[in-house]
Amino acid sequence: MRTDVLVIGSGPAGGGAALALASLGVEHMVITKYRWTANTPRAHITNQRTMEIFRDLGIEDEVIAKGTPNELMGDTVFCTSLTGDEIGRVRTWGTHPARKADYTLASPSTHCDIPQTFLEPIIVGQAAANGSRIRFDTEYVGLTQDDDGVDVLVRDRVTGHEYTIRAKYVIGADGGRSQVAADVGLPFEGQMDIAGSMNIVFHADLSHLVEHRPSVLYWVLQPGSDVGGIGLGLVRMVRPWNEWLIVWGYDINQPPPDVDEDMAISIVRELVGDPELPVTIRSTSLWGNNKMYATRYRAGRVFCMGDACHRHPPSNGLGSNTSIQDAYNLAWKLAYVLRGTAGEALLDSYDAERSPIGKQIVLRANKSIEEFGPIFAALGVDGGDPELMQQHIAARADNTPQAAGQREALRKALELKDYEFNAHGVELGQRYASNAVVPDGTPEPAFDRDPELYYHPTTWPGARLPHAWLGTRDGRKVSTHDLAGKGRFCLLTGIAGEAWAEAAGKVAEQLGIELVAHVIGPGREHIDLYEDWARAREVDEAGCVLVRPDAHVAWRSAGTSDDPAAELSRVLSQVLAR
Ligand code: FDA
Repeated sequence: MRTDVLVIGSGPAGGGAALALASLGVEHMVITKYRWTANTPRAHITNQRTMEIFRDLGIEDEVIAKGTPNELMGDTVFCTSLTGDEIGRVRTWGTHPARKADYTLASPSTHCDIPQTFLEPIIVGQAAANGSRIRFDTEYVGLTQDDDGVDVLVRDRVTGHEYTIRAKYVIGADGGRSQVAADVGLPFEGQMDIAGSMNIVFHADLSHLVEHRPSVLYWVLQPGSDVGGIGLGLVRMVRPWNEWLIVWGYDINQPPPDVDEDMAISIVRELVGDPELPVTIRSTSLWGNNKMYATRYRAGRVFCMGDACHRHPPSNGLGSNTSIQDAYNLAWKLAYVLRGTAGEALLDSYDAERSPIGKQIVLRANKSIEEFGPIFAALGVDGGDPELMQQHIAARADNTPQAAGQREALRKALELKDYEFNAHGVELGQRYASNAVVPDGTPEPAFDRDPELYYHPTTWPGARLPHAWLGTRDGRKVSTHDLAGKGRFCLLTGIAGEAWAEAAGKVAEQLGIELVAHVIGPGREHIDLYEDWARAREVDEAGCVLVRPDAHVAWRSAGTSDDPAAELSRVLSQVLAR
């Protein structure tokens, strides 16, 4: 059995890779261990960058239709139980009126909440419809590689039959316990299983407790309800407002707890604060919190992605998002190399571009856990005597100078959580440096606001293409992102830069690639409706911005050129390692 690309795993990384490869017409196959997609709703926060990728891959509308909209995601509550004392609220995922403009201006897409159990079937379904051959119940066993390809031994889990699939390239997207990453010897830094968590998925109608403060996350601080801990739990919306997931900690240094139905129901009722609540438990599972990242994502013809490379807690909601973004980064490069329109060295840029992002998000997610510390400190919750801790929480309501200090400290501590819940710069501001980006000689633009909290749009080579709404001749509104993508390079210029557009056609033909050129201006196919593109492009009207198929800027020219065709040919040859 032979294929060009074998994808191992069908989670957000493997499914995303399959969908992107199928959309690019790359011959590939997917094997995945279980009989269907994710059976628990782990990932849910789906950020703007991922939604942009879904927009390009044709599933954004379906994800929106099946997800929970941004306006129901925002009133993140800290409380002693859902029926108890409310400690504070943070507006999250860009829903604060003062932040909403940042998010709206930055992207044609919005955050939404879609549980992994709903998202994976959409991704995998569309991939299969577009040409992916997906083998469920098929387990990776081992691999060997040579100069021309990889032999992957797999096992059919229904019959037990083992066979070999020969692939030109392999994508290891087999999750946080990746056997592929281990077998090819990817180097890792960090630590696995730092803390233990349990998931309890349940049905209960909690509308009366949450509808007036709609959010996807309700943090419950309940000292005394666990043994020797601070008693922090999370009640997370899966479907508004009758399907939920509780995340509750356990001591990883002890034998794993046996979470039976009675125990699960009692945890649910405690955190909700209603001892009579009718509850149906759907499932329980245990998982470990990790702080680990691969420092290299590639070993020969094998590329790893997703949790196989970056393993971290769910804080910031970055895991599935980053996995899909890894896949989107690699897919077009594989397509170009397999078609013979790029040199093999283009594939080196995957590792160079994505491994720094993996490290960044692992550290960010773990720091966000640590940043609960100031909340506990402000409330006097220190893991000591539970009764005393409860008294400390209640004492913040007193009319004393000490309580005023407590309230002030709590306000600051909750503001710090913006780095977890409103980290727009982390979500959207990824900039690449690699052989697939050609510098234009300008220094990296400075950040004039906090780089983690705020996205800083720029066309500096390596950055994500800034979004601006454009108008079409037939009166439609399209994003600059709608001009990019679809597996093609794209060149954006103004009327004074028409020579770039003319040159693009010639160079595309010469290199045998798709390169679409758009002249933006009055009387042309696309009009700069609000002059937002003129403000964002950072080059003259006579200059150009060359965009890669993954909507990152490959190169830009500040102005015109004596020989635009020669210039574009030079730059594209460099990007494509020709
Ligand atoms: P994933 O583990 O999802 O998939 C691995 C795939 O490989 C599966 O299809 C599996 O069957 C397959 N596989 C494994 N071994 C195999 C073998 N030997 N042979 C063949 N196939 C094999 N992220 C996010 O972006 N937003 C969020 O809000 C959250 N929230 C969240 C909450 C909770 C409670 C958890 C635990 C996690 C999150 N996450 C998240 C993280 C997110 O779930 C995680 O990062 C992604 O699922 C990772 O996707 P992958 O595809 O890399 O691995």
